[in-house]
Parts: sequence; C-alpha cells; structure tokens
Amino acid sequence: MIILGIESSCDETAVSIVKDKKEILASIVASQIDVHKEFGGVVPEVASRIHVENISYCIEQAFSQANMTMDDIDAIAVTKGPGLIGCLHVGVQAAKTLAFAYHKPLVPVHHLAGHIYANELVVDLEFPVLALVVSGGNSELVYMKDETSFEILGQTQDDAIGEAYDKVARVLNLGYPGGPKIDKLARQGKPVYALAKPKTQGKYDFSFSGLKSSVLQFVKRQERLNQTYDMADLAASFQETALNEIFDKVKAVLNDYPDIKHFVVGGGVSANSRLREKIEELKPKYPNVTFTVPPMSCCTDNANMIAVAGEIAYKAGRRADASLTADSSWEIQ
Ligand code: KG4
Repeated sequence: MIILGIESSCDETAVSIVKDKKEILASIVASQIDVHKEFGGVVPEVASRIHVENISYCIEQAFSQANMTMDDIDAIAVTKGPGLIGCLHVGVQAAKTLAFAYHKPLVPVHHLAGHIYANELVVDLEFPVLALVVSGGNSELVYMKDETSFEILGQTQDDAIGEAYDKVARVLNLGYPGGPKIDKLARQGKPVYALAKPKTQGKYDFSFSGLKSSVLQFVKRQERLNQTYDMADLAASFQETALNEIFDKVKAVLNDYPDIKHFVVGGGVSANSRLREKIEELKPKYPNVTFTVPPMSCCTDNANMIAVAGEIAYKAGRRADASLTADSSWEIQ
C-alpha cells in the first residue's frame, strides 16, 4: 500500500509518502524551530499560521520527491490529535480536501501511535509490546497486546520529559529546543549534583516538574551565594535524574509483565544519546525482549510515522468522512 501521511500537530509541517510501512518514497519536514526559538518555545497561534503557509508546498514537494501523483496513493493518513488545536486543523483540513477531491480513503491517526509505529520502519513489532513515548508533550508507557490496542500503564503527572529538558535549557540560557543542547553539554559533565528525585503515586507514573524546579533553585542558590557551578555537570545531573526516573519505571514494567516481547521507544527525546546508551545497558538484563529505537530522522515529529500508523489503522478498518475534525486531547486508549 502507498500512504500519504500528513502531520501538523505542533511546530513541524510534515508530509510523507510511504510504501508498505517500510519504504519512504518522500519525506518533507518544514520545521518552525527558527521562528519559535525567538520566544523560547512554541507559540501556538504563530505555529498554526505557518502551517497554513507551508502545507500546500509540502504536499507538492512530497509528490515531486516521490515522482508520483495522487493517482498512486491508496489512502491518506492524518494526525487527528493530540496536539495544538489550530495546528492540527490545518493538516486535517488539507487531508479532507485531498480525500474528497480525489476520492481516497481518509484515516485519522493518533500522534502517539505514530511515534510508536515509527519503529515499524525498521522492524516488525512483536506483541505484546511495551512502548515508551517521550516527547515535548508526552511521557507515557503504553502496553500493546496487539496492533490496535493501547493501554497506558504510566504517564507523567505534570510536565512531559521534553518540556522539562526545554525549561531547564531556558534556565541555563542554552536556547530552544533544549533537549539536543542539554544532551550535548551533558556529555562533557558528570552527574555530581544531587537534585530532587521525582516522587509519584502510581507505580509506573513519571514526574518532572519538581526536578525542573530543583535545577532552578540550585542555580538561584549558587548565584545568591556568589558561588560558581559547572554547567556541564548540572546538565548531566539533570539528565541522569530525569532518565533514571524513566528507566526505573521501564524496568518495573518489564519485571511485572514477563509476557512483553518487544520494547520500543518513540518521540523527540528518543534521539537522546544517553537514553540510547541506557537502552543498550538494559538489553542483557532482559534477553527475551527485543529492543528497538527508531531511526534518528523519525524521532522528532515527521509524517513517515503517520503514514505507517495510517496503513495499520486502514487495514484494521478505520475510516473517516468529511465530518472528521481535529481533537487536541484525543485519548489513545
Ligand atoms: O516528538 P517531538 O518532535 O514533538 C512532540 O511531539 O512533542 O519532540 C520534541 C521534544 C523537544 O522537547 C526537544 O527538546 C526534545 O524532543 N528532544 C530531545 C532531543 N532531541 C529532541 N530531548 C533530549 N535529547 C535530545 N537529543
């Protein structure tokens, strides 16, 4: 099957054409990072306006890259939610227009399912799957007994991990998006500073807001006392505490659910080099589990993953008509 995927849930306008869940025939991503970094984060109204400006051109570019026309497309998959509502609407309206004009099936896709199914680009998932979704808007542990069932075992009780990376980077004046910058800086430091260890009620839930405040308080205290500190050590201390919070919960689930066959990760933070090292460290402890990380190009938002998730949803019978609308808080379960 050849699927046209459209993604516009946050600050990337992305359009892809993917064949049989594995072959990327075209992948266009128009990132708005340069605009939003002036503000230290995504400005929703600005983001949706830029999506409007970019979407037609991205679609045109995708067809040109694949050397195809709408006649070659079997179905159109689009992110319905969750995300920024004004942004989502742009992708949904574009997908609906194409589906109506060219009489193509329209498939709504959940953004997190997209992040999970980015892994299908490199390997076939073996069920039951444990998926860790770590991005700017999400931190979730999802148990999938089969291709279309998603059970949230744990999730953040406050900030998403990517949001915490971005906010800590702002405290350290590193710029936006903070994740890649902290990742790089932390490699030159050691996790020597003791920061607040997150506490949660749910056994598999996460929390990052206290940790973020702990970094801020540390910086303020050092400034008040006129004492210097090592930025790289602070970045490493934050990163290690945040990732330990994630991996403590991952291990708890893997221990409690011995039926899990495959562990996958998705979302922007899955590009993190220390997170990838920690996955390597985990592998020998769970020899019956296959561990997969998506290709770097498919970690942050893209439409390849939406096309792949779209093919799976299409084959499971999911369709939408002209009444399809965006849903900023669409539940995955
Ligand atoms: O998946 P994504 O593009 O957007 C959402 O769906 O939220 O993720 C963006 C997030 C940002 O918070 C960014 O700082 C973070 O992913 N990120 C990273 C890295 N690369 C991107 N965080 C940690 N380390 C990285 N290397």
